[in-house]
Amino acid sequence: MIGKNPGIALLAFTLLTAVPGIAQAQGGDTIRQYRYERAADGLDLVMHEAPRPVAGDNEVLVRVRATSLNRRDLYILNDSYGPGGSAAGGIPLSDGAGEVIAVGDGVTRFTVGDRVVGIFFQQWLDGPPNPAWLASARGAGSGGMLSELIVSHEDALVAIPEHLSFEEAATLPVAGVTAWVSLFKRGELQPGQFVLLEGTGGVSLFGLIFSAAAGAKPIITSSRDEKLERAKMLGAFGVANYRKNQDWQKQVRELTGGAGVDHVLEVGGRDTLEKALEALAHGGHIALIGGLSGFATGVPIGPLMIMNATASGIYVGSRADFEAMNAFISEHRLRPLIDRVVDFDQAADAFEFMNSGNFMGKIVIRIPE
Ligand SMILES: NC(=O)c1ccc[n+]([C@@H]2O[C@H](COP(=O)([O-])OP(=O)(O)OC[C@H]3O[C@@H](n4cnc5c(N)ncnc54)[C@H](OP(=O)(O)O)[C@@H]3O)[C@@H](O)[C@H]2O)c1
Repeated sequence: MIGKNPGIALLAFTLLTAVPGIAQAQGGDTIRQYRYERAADGLDLVMHEAPRPVAGDNEVLVRVRATSLNRRDLYILNDSYGPGGSAAGGIPLSDGAGEVIAVGDGVTRFTVGDRVVGIFFQQWLDGPPNPAWLASARGAGSGGMLSELIVSHEDALVAIPEHLSFEEAATLPVAGVTAWVSLFKRGELQPGQFVLLEGTGGVSLFGLIFSAAAGAKPIITSSRDEKLERAKMLGAFGVANYRKNQDWQKQVRELTGGAGVDHVLEVGGRDTLEKALEALAHGGHIALIGGLSGFATGVPIGPLMIMNATASGIYVGSRADFEAMNAFISEHRLRPLIDRVVDFDQAADAFEFMNSGNFMGKIVIRIPE
């Protein structure tokens, strides 16, 4: 549990990791991994010793080298994440990257030594999703990455772009793919178009980096001027402080010369959706992604209709989307922004950092070799 009584989680973590004699993954019979355990109010993050996993048919054994956090992981820890029910007993974190150290019978996609990153929906490989594939999301009940070793079906991994480190690759599966699908697949972003990004969280920063690389004009908001200054260095065309200026949507429209933005990555929800629509250009596209201020209720039919605008519901994406994003990342030699890297033993700190809001860029947990 984080936010209401973080001490509970940290206490459980400290007691269990203090147990001596836990073997390292290197050749030992056991590995270390975290699991969510039910607490009085939410879930706790608890280190466990577990048997060394073995790759079965069509599976690969991955030495996880880095994982990263998304807002969803805080919702899960607080046991307030909707899809899939409670994650109690599951291994935390959907996003992780590592090295293949063994392959099971029948594996054709990877060999020992390959650098891989997990896809979010383990079974959604291409085309439109179905309920079973959406139920295969990593990091709640199954497929979690906060473990020294994991076994994965070979289909549920993609190769890491060559120029990226394990830490950088670990940031891609949720925030990166969500931003990429919103902009390019559903939004069909064109050079020169205006893109509105709300706040400087994970999805928004990928949106900034991708749209700048595509020759578009990203406009980003933040509650903090120092973050806006950094955003300019990352390629922001324009910036607005949504805390100082409650009518930030007017400032955003002014930055476009009055026409409005062509794309919105709508992550704010209740506090931002209506304002984002006020900043939208006729014929624009709004990607409905998140609810940082609580989820907005009701589709704003009137404004969408009058503006001939399009709204898309976005739920991360498929393996094919991930691979298309990786091709774009490789072509433009893009690098994700990482705020900080936390050691595996201090994984609870990563959740605390995320909860503090005092970060700009992804929070990564490094797992030693
Ligand atoms: N549908 C999907 O597939 C999908 C995928 C990924 C994420 N999401 C959702 O999208 C949202 C963003 O996720 P994330 O991982 O990018 O979050 P995140 O990294 O935790 O973003 C945190 C940042 O968001 C900004 N923020 C917070 N409240 C805001 C508000 N009311 N208006 C504007 N900005 C605000 C703040 O930026 P400043 O500090 O700059 O003010 C804050 O630092 C979450 O609700 C998440 O659950 C959905």
